[in-house]
Amino acid sequence: MRDILVGVSGASGMPLALCLLRLLAAMPDVRTHCIVSSGAAAVLRAECDAGPELLTTLADACYAADDLGAGPAGGSWWRRGDTPAAMLLVPCSMGTLGALASGATRNLVQRAADVALKESLPLVLVTRESPLSAVHLRNMLTLREAGAVIMPFSPGFYLRPQSLDDLLAQTCGRIFDQIGLPHNLGRWTGSETARPR
Ligand SMILES: Cc1cc2nc3c(=O)[nH]c(=O)nc-3n(C[C@H](O)[C@H](O)[C@H](O)COP(=O)(O)O)c2cc1C
Repeated sequence: MRDILVGVSGASGMPLALCLLRLLAAMPDVRTHCIVSSGAAAVLRAECDAGPELLTTLADACYAADDLGAGPAGGSWWRRGDTPAAMLLVPCSMGTLGALASGATRNLVQRAADVALKESLPLVLVTRESPLSAVHLRNMLTLREAGAVIMPFSPGFYLRPQSLDDLLAQTCGRIFDQIGLPHNLGRWTGSETARPR
């Protein structure tokens, strides 16, 4: 069993978080944990006309974003399984990115990501903002240097997605690659998938 913590913050991209949690729920060897920030709840309403339950019901465990005493707020929670936990922050807002880069975390999404950093455990930040200011870029560099994977939500079209669902699933596959989670969601294999002349 591998514990994967999905943090959802208030950037655009709730359909990606939904797709990710659905895919994780279908993985028998994964125990999924979920935290939804209050910013994310507002974006969920705007993008999916839904409340946090849309996401939290897909996880094996969920935690309130203001519960700074919950397991993921402490280092030992991360190492209780055979394999240490990993965190996917999908999507990651610039607000959460800035809080993490400064170390001044204010909710459980941010605190959990801060713990992953201090414990040198896998942390993937799927950022969503455009264009990026110099502050955003500096924060990304700071966090990359601290050990996080910075993965802007930036779909590739070389796998030829036929629908939005395809495109989201392919993006999830690339996120899973970053933490070594096996999947069959497509991967660029060079000339095999290139358009024949
Ligand atoms: C509909 C909507 C879309 C938003 N999209 C983004 C976005 O793509 N990127 C971003 O950094 N912030 C975005 N924001 C702003 C954040 O939600 C806001 O900064 C919030 O305070 C972030 O809080 P959190 O990081 O604790 O979730 C959006 C807000 C709303 C209401």
